[in-house]
Amino acid sequence: MSAAVSVDAVFVGRAYLGGRFEEVAVAVEGDTIAAVTKPALAPRGEETVVLGPKQLLLPGMVDLHVHMREPGLEHKEDWRSGSMSAAKGGVTCVFDMPNNVPPANTCDRLREKVAKAFSKSIVDFGLYAGCSDEPETLKPCADLFFGFKLYPEDLYSPRARPTFKLAAELGKPVFVHAEDPSLFRDSPLHSEARPPEAEASAVELALELARSTGAWLHLTHVSTKPALERVLASKALGKVTFDVTPHHMLLSDSLYRSPLAKIAKVNPPLRSEEHRAAVYAAARSGAADALVTDHAPHALAEKLSENPPPGFPGLELALHLLLKEVLEGRLPPSAIDLYSSKPARLAGLRKGVIAPGFDADLVIVELAEWSVKGSELVSKAKYTPFEGWTMRTKTVATYVRGRCVYRDGGFGEGGARA
Ligand code: NCD
Ligand code: ZN
Repeated sequence: MSAAVSVDAVFVGRAYLGGRFEEVAVAVEGDTIAAVTKPALAPRGEETVVLGPKQLLLPGMVDLHVHMREPGLEHKEDWRSGSMSAAKGGVTCVFDMPNNVPPANTCDRLREKVAKAFSKSIVDFGLYAGCSDEPETLKPCADLFFGFKLYPEDLYSPRARPTFKLAAELGKPVFVHAEDPSLFRDSPLHSEARPPEAEASAVELALELARSTGAWLHLTHVSTKPALERVLASKALGKVTFDVTPHHMLLSDSLYRSPLAKIAKVNPPLRSEEHRAAVYAAARSGAADALVTDHAPHALAEKLSENPPPGFPGLELALHLLLKEVLEGRLPPSAIDLYSSKPARLAGLRKGVIAPGFDADLVIVELAEWSVKGSELVSKAKYTPFEGWTMRTKTVATYVRGRCVYRDGGFGEGGARA
């Protein structure tokens, strides 16, 4: 591209280009990245954004597992607050789970949810369809959802096999939360109430359903060593993918004996050091297909109650937790792919990569030390099990398809696309 050509915007600075950082100019035309050149060869931009010496340009992150809670549970989160949380976390596309009230498991409800998300989300989104007694009725609106989601109670119901069959027919993934409820026990310690064996058992059933129906199985938030070994060994036999979360990588069940026990309650539970290390290794080696937050906000009063619901927010911290691991030398820079190019590719999107032809989803982060405070999150859920952690980077600005949706604490309008 010659210097005479003009584009909408040019970003100049150190950018993540798949495994490495390089000084470049990124030209944006409309929704799309038009060119990536040496800075001296950059086209002229209507707008030019020159990054500072402590700033990095990243592709927008893609989160395949979040709970925006709307419709039905807006006191926990809604498409506006949840997508603001995403934008502040450098996440430009989220895939929302179907456990709404009522569940998003019919065409009408999926249509309603798309309309809501369209009008309120400032980041792009995709949806999952929930399990139902008549999965076939979802066929006419198959273009509204990326995949199916099965919770433990769905996996062990007569609805599981028909869902896998339909997924195979439609070529869509079945995202499975693998825990076998028959192995749950009574224990005040959450990690003992839902032991590792429950995950191993459910992974076997999910693999059997996938093998016998030919469906693409995606195991989400895999949290134990034996399950990881089993899943990795199964990859050669069929389409089997899996993701891990920052909390299963970085936190352990010791939190259940701490003042953060209620806040840290999550399903699957945080595990012992042995399992945590195995999850971390699956991320470090690149064996994992994606990193997801399982952003699962609840009201603080609910979390502090006698029997707190499982889950906590994650969207604002995940990228910065990942960058902390990279900057402190425990993960290679390519680990960024787990939360950008890899999930985007799974979802069939031209996102998560800074290269010509990809969506102009861009994030500027800055090297800066700060201490995590749950009370400062923009999510409605103002708490986190990462309370007090020292971060190395913060988000300066986030662009979704060329439009600025976050800068220096302020939010833009966006204009989401499904
Ligand atoms: C999920 C939620 O809150 O929607 N919570 C969680 O701990 N992952 C539900 C669930 O998966 O149990
Ligand atoms: Zn979830």
